[in-house]
Amino acid sequence: MLEKKSVVIAGGGSTYTAGIVMMLINNQDKFPLKSLKFYDNDFERQKVVADACEIIIRERAPEIEFVATTDPEVAFKDVDFVMAHIRQGGLKMREMDEKIPMKYDVVGQETCGPGGIAYGMRSITGVVELIDYMEEYSPNAWMLNYSNPASIVAEATRVMRPNAKIINICDMPVAIKQGMADIVGLKSGNDIVDRYYGLNHYGWWTEILDKDGNDLMPKLKEHVKEYGYGPDTSGNDNPLLMEQSWMDTFTKAKDIYAVDPDTLPNTYLKYYLYPDYVVKHTDPNHTRANEVMENREKNVFTECRNITSKGTAEDTTLEAGEHAEFIVQLAGALSYNTHERMLLIVENNGAIANIENDAMVEVPCIVSKRGYEPLAMGKIPTFQKGMIEQQVSVEKLVVQAYMEKSYQKLWKALTLSATVPSAGVAKLILDDLQEANKEYWPELS
Ligand code: NAD
Ligand code: LMR
Repeated sequence: MLEKKSVVIAGGGSTYTAGIVMMLINNQDKFPLKSLKFYDNDFERQKVVADACEIIIRERAPEIEFVATTDPEVAFKDVDFVMAHIRQGGLKMREMDEKIPMKYDVVGQETCGPGGIAYGMRSITGVVELIDYMEEYSPNAWMLNYSNPASIVAEATRVMRPNAKIINICDMPVAIKQGMADIVGLKSGNDIVDRYYGLNHYGWWTEILDKDGNDLMPKLKEHVKEYGYGPDTSGNDNPLLMEQSWMDTFTKAKDIYAVDPDTLPNTYLKYYLYPDYVVKHTDPNHTRANEVMENREKNVFTECRNITSKGTAEDTTLEAGEHAEFIVQLAGALSYNTHERMLLIVENNGAIANIENDAMVEVPCIVSKRGYEPLAMGKIPTFQKGMIEQQVSVEKLVVQAYMEKSYQKLWKALTLSATVPSAGVAKLILDDLQEANKEYWPELS
């Protein structure tokens, strides 16, 4: 019998919460729960999701104690895990992050370029606050953080809370691995054993094997060269690809691959390698934030309200999120010592031999009760080394700007981003972002 665990989901009102709850319920044999709590700083928003989830839990796993609260003490007391996915400033501020750079023909994206920097400056405050609550009320707990932008958040927590038990994670490599599994005819991305190195939303695969050790790279490369991670003419049922913007992103991997055919890329590299293409293919008046508000947010909240008004979730369309599977696996590995191999965002300390030790990198790690142990990825080639060093510097400058309240450093961060053409354009964007983020950023001087 596995020992039961207690979990708080921070950002209870997130569009992803219901999917995580469904995944947790489906995995009671692998990760049994004693209690599940929701915490959010927006009572009304969380209530919509919480009322529906309470019904789901009552119908499918009544043994789990459930509480939704905006009180940090109630939320963080006696928990084993904090699963954190907050969005400081909400989707409305995401819209600003995406639209302001586009005014200057610069990539406007949630986590990459100036938008990611602006979001980072907001997120640091919220995530550090969650760490402090966890350390006060459940000092032995682990925080599994997937609040974005994960790279900047990871660097900030490394510097500001160096002893915190926090692991930063991302589901993009998981989604791409599912795409790879579809391409080579395996059932799941979990059937793949990979070697990967980089930063969050900024990495490359050097090896893809199946569980028997067979090399899948040649077949994958053949496919990616033609179609990116998109389907060939025979189609593909990866749910991510149902949305046109994701289909475009998966297909564009073809052109990223062309730059370095020795590796297979993370899809987010398109923002750094093809920023002009991205700008040309983005509607400056209708960005990804609008798509998310019109689709995912609207669908999830409508369905939650439906469940609550009907008083049952028997025929609900809410599904266990794929993204949630990774989080449940990680919590299981930390709890029950499974020694699973997972991609995590951790302090380099030699994992990538020729990159600075204190960079926060994304590499495979072995996860057990003791925490995580990064695997050595060795020396990397000049092209990737150059790109990584540039982007690590951007992320470090953002965190320094936040801590020192320095306008100058934030300007340097924007200037150094491969998405921004000049210091002049960087300044114009920065001034607009600063104005829009008055409520959220430290006051810079
Ligand atoms: P959302 O706006 O729907 O939900 C975020 C919730 O966090 C809201 O209910 C909000 O009220 C709450 N919140 C904001 N600041 C808070 C704070 N300081 N304390 C407590 N609660 C706070 O956003 P979403 O689209 O569901 O995304 C949630 C997060 O998950 C984002 O950071 C997003 O970037 C991230 N995400 C990460 C991954 C990954 O794999 N790393 C994948 C998808 C989404
Ligand atoms: C989201 O859909 O909000 C995220 O998964 C990432 C994105 O770029 O949209």
